[in-house]
Amino acid sequence: MPAIVIVGAQWGDEGKGKATDLLGSRVDYVVKPNGGNNAGHTVVVGGEKFELKLLPAGILSPNATPVIGNGVVVSLDALFHEIDGLEARGADTSRLRISANAHLVAPYHQTMDKVTERFLGKRAIGTTGRGIGPAYMDKVGRLGIRVQDIFDESILRQKIEGALRQKNELLVKLYNRRAVAVDEIAEYFLSFAERLRPMVVDSTLLLNDALDRGDVVLMEGGQATYLDVDHGTYPFVTSSNPTAGGASVGAGIGPTRINRSIGIVKAYTTRVGAGPFPTELFDEWGEFLQNTGGEFGVNTGRPRRCGWYDAVMARHASRINGFTDYFLTKLDVLTGIEQIPVCVAYDVDGVRHDEMPMTQTEFHHAKPIVEHFPGWTEDISDARNLDDLPENARNYVLALERMSGTRISGIGVGPGRDEVVTVHDLID
Ligand code: GDP
Ligand code: IMO
Ligand code: MG
Repeated sequence: MPAIVIVGAQWGDEGKGKATDLLGSRVDYVVKPNGGNNAGHTVVVGGEKFELKLLPAGILSPNATPVIGNGVVVSLDALFHEIDGLEARGADTSRLRISANAHLVAPYHQTMDKVTERFLGKRAIGTTGRGIGPAYMDKVGRLGIRVQDIFDESILRQKIEGALRQKNELLVKLYNRRAVAVDEIAEYFLSFAERLRPMVVDSTLLLNDALDRGDVVLMEGGQATYLDVDHGTYPFVTSSNPTAGGASVGAGIGPTRINRSIGIVKAYTTRVGAGPFPTELFDEWGEFLQNTGGEFGVNTGRPRRCGWYDAVMARHASRINGFTDYFLTKLDVLTGIEQIPVCVAYDVDGVRHDEMPMTQTEFHHAKPIVEHFPGWTEDISDARNLDDLPENARNYVLALERMSGTRISGIGVGPGRDEVVTVHDLID
């Protein structure tokens, strides 16, 4: 059986957790390929709400093995805090496996995240402050510490020493902070060793063997296309590749083994943190989407910026990720709006752009060119087939599909596991 990848098509929080949970009972493995505890994925099961940060949402699917892939940066503090929280609520986390090659977030990464944001002043990214960027910087800079290093104390100490040599100079001389001791960090990591050991595996072997046996592997991407360090609104991005290609690298599953690339896209747009956002609303409609959609960050509690659906972004995301399907979420939030605006193209300094502008400057200047679609007033949360939707809701979905470059295979009509309109099966 092939592998499937779930990717956020906008700026995150599209409902990836819900989509993963929906497929969870039909897959054997759920892998998180990128990011760390900067994510916040919500799953609502039987009216009970779970919020996953570092762990893949697939941990709540009793028959799936959850795996933290090599591309993830792991805060051990956050990991065990989350495991303990889930266990206290009766969830079984014993199947969790973690790649020996995944990198670790050290306490000094979190310090660096906070001081660099402060240093940027008005140009701050608005990060989650979890140390994700600095941990990826060390990974690419070849100063990172990996999960496997914890099991060789002498290597661990050597690597910590290497990482701290330059970091302490920065912390003390540039940021006016105290220096960090090698022993302090070594003890911090070693304190988790015993609990961590049984979970650590060669995840690429595990997953590729599973695929060879005919098992289904689902990759649950964190963040989203426009937070991708290559394809997003750089520099207002995260420090990993949350696109479909990045999932292949971050899970160690070759691209030829992936047969479905599913884009999760909201029926409108939200963003947390700084950076350009062409359809952003600053009026009562922005407040309407924020309140009706419950648009407050799972991870940091920050209010999400809100705007209308942006078909230019959806088309571009479709291209970059080779989407085979879109899963459109939160259609129910638009119920009651008389005429629903959709951004179909941009006006950049008087020039119409039907596709994503090439440069950052142009994207910052992009003003949405909007078309309106008639809305509906009926409650749609009980709809399960396209025909159950009011005609205008159906037409809205079909219009988005025409403009977005990929067929819409599922539609979220509420936060619950069952609140879905199925158009095409997402696994075959
Ligand atoms: P993720 O980071 O992509 O997993 O998304 P988040 O969990 O951060 O944010 C999505 C929010 O929307 C969560 O509160 C979900 O419970 C909720 N949600 C997901 N799909 C739907 C839907 O179709 N309708 C409604 N009303 N809420 C949804
Ligand atoms: P999920 O998986 C929304 C944003 C931050 C900030 C930028 C960089 O729930 O969709 P970082 O801490 O990663 O260095 O912050 O990325 N960001 C997210 N926004 N959803 C997320 O995850 C995000 N993860 C990071 O707000 O703008
Ligand atoms: Mg989220």
